[in-house]
Amino acid sequence: MRHHSLPRPAVVHNGIIENYQELREELARAGCVFASDTDTEVLAHLIGLGLAGHGDLGRAVASALSRAEGSYAVAVVSLDNPGVVYGARKLSPLVLGVGQGENFLASDIPAFLPYTREVVFLEDGEMARIDAGSWQVFTVAGLAPVEKKPVRIAWDIQAAQKGGFKHFMLKEIFEQPRVIADCLAGRVDASRGLATLRELDDFPVPERLTIVACGTSYHSGLWGMQLLESWAKIPTRVEIASEFRYRDPILGPGDVALAISQSGETADTLAGMRLARERGAKVIGLCNVVGSTVSRDADRVIYTQAGPEISVASTKAMCSQLTLLLLLALHFGHKKGLAGEREAAVPLAGLQDLPALLEAALPGMRQRAKELARVYSEARSFLYLGRGLNYPLALEGALKLKEISYIHAEGYAAGEMKHGPIALVDPKFPTFALAPDDELYPKVKSNLQEVQARGGKIIALTNPGMDLRVDHVWEAPRAFGPLNTFLMLPALQLFAYEMADYLGKDVDQPRNLAKSVTVE
Ligand code: M6R
Repeated sequence: MRHHSLPRPAVVHNGIIENYQELREELARAGCVFASDTDTEVLAHLIGLGLAGHGDLGRAVASALSRAEGSYAVAVVSLDNPGVVYGARKLSPLVLGVGQGENFLASDIPAFLPYTREVVFLEDGEMARIDAGSWQVFTVAGLAPVEKKPVRIAWDIQAAQKGGFKHFMLKEIFEQPRVIADCLAGRVDASRGLATLRELDDFPVPERLTIVACGTSYHSGLWGMQLLESWAKIPTRVEIASEFRYRDPILGPGDVALAISQSGETADTLAGMRLARERGAKVIGLCNVVGSTVSRDADRVIYTQAGPEISVASTKAMCSQLTLLLLLALHFGHKKGLAGEREAAVPLAGLQDLPALLEAALPGMRQRAKELARVYSEARSFLYLGRGLNYPLALEGALKLKEISYIHAEGYAAGEMKHGPIALVDPKFPTFALAPDDELYPKVKSNLQEVQARGGKIIALTNPGMDLRVDHVWEAPRAFGPLNTFLMLPALQLFAYEMADYLGKDVDQPRNLAKSVTVE
């Protein structure tokens, strides 16, 4: 800010001030000179004007925010009194960390996890004042004090460190056996064939379910839909939240929306939840971050308990979402009298064996991923193919590859190939196929023959003993039915990881991406 007569507040801002043009014109008329075109600078000038008038930063922040339309999480400090920081939020996350002789403001808990586990969750319309030794919360409108209690977060400091791994992503991939075990703890009685989700004890079985999510969480939803339909016989649809929020969906009192979100702060998912509620649906949140907006806005919340996911590319969060979606399908199936003890016993016993099976497989998988990454590192484009439960995995494999290695990749339902994408296949356009030993294997095999007939190279992720003749067979251990997913998913993640690492990309913080997408 370059207006010499005004004090100089510094502002950190996440979000979008929608009426910033209008405010900018007004400020320019008042003599403010702008150094950028950003909406954040408008906020800084607005606060500066207030501060120049009465000298009270808290009042200046509150009055500036009362004029700002849109979404924001802000932290504001003034050069006159740099030991005091004000923070406020609206439709964008902001948490306060209470330390010993130090306090923090951040949009996500992991940012201050190495220093404190005491967290105060701020609500829209609230404003915090912190200095090193104290903190208070007020309303933005009227600056009335608000009583708040810090919550102790179970995550520990190690969880926010790399623990000897080169990247958080790799660490988080290798945490998946523990994540599955944690999701199952206290929720499975394999001897009685029961999956118990206490969070939903007295929650009625939905007549119809609408899953709303983005990105990887959306892929989890597509996978979960198949089990919810076949095991619990609940008509289920899966919606990309940014599309759903602007449609005119038909929802009513018998409907339940299931919002899936690792962060619990994704703006589109939150808007989807609100729309579903307005239309009369109940909302269940499936999320990882305790105290997040999804968890607070939902009628019921199921925590995935995966621990903090730091890498922008989501890995262990998806594993935890899939585990809980499977339990959810068994839980509702059981409530409807569908999943009897015998039917549920097999997946439940298999689930309990999964952590050890995956733990043993991961080092070999990483080695194979590394070898293949070197072979395919020059590919400019990849096709991922799968059918049934492996179709969402094909989408996820492609998303992982593109987001961290910047190689174009497309996930496709293998049977759709012949309706267009097959025209792309040539020796320089490799295919990554998901071809486990399931009822759709013969179909996938014949889709792969079509690729080979056009000179396309293939990596096929399959199980031992299958009769595939492709360029590179990658064998994952066998598990029961849908549980194969839990062995295929880390292979996809590791392949993307090794490609990106080999190509020297910034694995944990890929360009143009944010961990929580808190704006639409
Ligand atoms: O926190 P959420 O699960 O709501 O986030 C949704 C997506 O932004 C997220 O999954 C994104 O696609 C990841 N970067 C994928 O790795």
